[in-house]
Amino acid sequence: MAEDLSIIKGNKEEQYTGLLPQIEGLLTGESDLIANLANVSAALKEQFGWLWVGFYLVKQNELVLGPFQGPVACTRIKKGRGVCGASWQEAKALIVPDVEKFPGHIACSSLSKSEIVIPVILNNEVVAVLDVDSEEYDLFDETDQQYLEKIIQMINF
Ligand code: SME
Repeated sequence: MAEDLSIIKGNKEEQYTGLLPQIEGLLTGESDLIANLANVSAALKEQFGWLWVGFYLVKQNELVLGPFQGPVACTRIKKGRGVCGASWQEAKALIVPDVEKFPGHIACSSLSKSEIVIPVILNNEVVAVLDVDSEEYDLFDETDQQYLEKIIQMINF
């Protein structure tokens, strides 16, 4: 497929709906996980312009930084620590409207105001998380969760 992403205008739902088939196209025919996570991060960053979007992968009982787009980030997160570690421990998506109010939030960037983390679950085990940070308060909702979960399901972990 062409490597250029078409940026979709419209509301959140329209943007995700237009982006999904493009992500499908980017993933088709490529089996390398790192390559796919890198392109998914880039596509999401280009479409939505979020502060930070990327993956942490579970390795030897820690979350280790994977492909991402945005400012440099902490490389390792323990289970239960921060929003990512909590999402891993609870094996559930977390939407945080104000990160300063989240106990134990790990401030990789002082610009981050709200966050969503989606766990990637394979055979009842969390193998990775998708983390998105915004410079705006209260940016993420169930629509983001629903579409980000769809995107994760398209990736062969
Ligand atoms: N804020 C996250 C840490 C990762 S960075 O935001 C990229 C957390 O509390 O888990």
